[in-house]
Amino acid sequence: DLQIGDHGYKFRMVDGRVMPPYITPRCYGLSRRIETRPADVCFVSYPKSGTTWLSYIIVLLTGKAAASLESSFYWVESSWTHPMTESDIASDRSPRLFKSHMPYDMALGGTPAQNPCKYIYIARNPKDVCSSYFYFESGKSWSGFYNGGWDHWLQMFTDGKVHRGDWFEHVLSWWEHRNADNILFLTYEELKMDPRAGLTKIARFLDVELTPGKLDEVARKVSFSEMKTTEFSAMKGVKEFGKFFRKGEIGSWKEYFTVAQNERFDALYASRMGSSGLDFIFM
Ligand code: A3P
Repeated sequence: DLQIGDHGYKFRMVDGRVMPPYITPRCYGLSRRIETRPADVCFVSYPKSGTTWLSYIIVLLTGKAAASLESSFYWVESSWTHPMTESDIASDRSPRLFKSHMPYDMALGGTPAQNPCKYIYIARNPKDVCSSYFYFESGKSWSGFYNGGWDHWLQMFTDGKVHRGDWFEHVLSWWEHRNADNILFLTYEELKMDPRAGLTKIARFLDVELTPGKLDEVARKVSFSEMKTTEFSAMKGVKEFGKFFRKGEIGSWKEYFTVAQNERFDALYASRMGSSGLDFIFM
């Protein structure tokens, strides 16, 4: 059931959404069946929204650092990280950290409303997401392997034809549930503009004590320049890890969007976001 879309873009349909080839029915099924516990943490995002950044923050705050960043958490829905069985995960002690790129109705562990797990969703302005995603998926050997140009990529993104489906649907699906006790909704932009306030908010949600010294240490370690260069955070063993650290800024979409594309996108954004109350900083 692997499909090839425009410009060689490989994907798989799962529950009606466009998903990467490595979301196999077995892994997705396992992710839905996971029995979570109150102290577990699942970080969720649409790709290119600051997932790696958030994952390192959570790993440091919970003291779960393993041999590499990627081996510090479970990415159950994906088949390419590390081999794991249901019993491996079940026998691990909490807090267990989980990563997911799923919309709300495809969440890890079934329905967050009936799950004791803590979910942290990070969202980013869609222009930067789309640009970062284009860079990421272009010519990369292990996922979609898109070989077309920017114009068409933007079209696919707004049509919901890139991995993880429609950005608006994804973000709004979690935004709707932002007030649930076990959900924290964050944005890339707030974390970027005031990292210390962001870290404090995350620590409070996780019930982790954050001394001034620890705050300093975590803030330093998760800065873009540190993450881009340190071996641990650079995801030792992950192919082409450099692709995860491009610019780390707000507003680099301006290097991609033409004036006309930007105007069309703004109109789409206004209509899709509607009265949701969610808005982003684009710079
Ligand atoms: P850019 O391509 O705009 O630079 P994800 O981890 O969800 O795939 O997101 C990747 C994006 O997060 C990339 O955006 C990457 O550079 C950025 N990023 C990674 N680490 C970061 C950090 N410590 N601070 C700010 N941005 C970071």
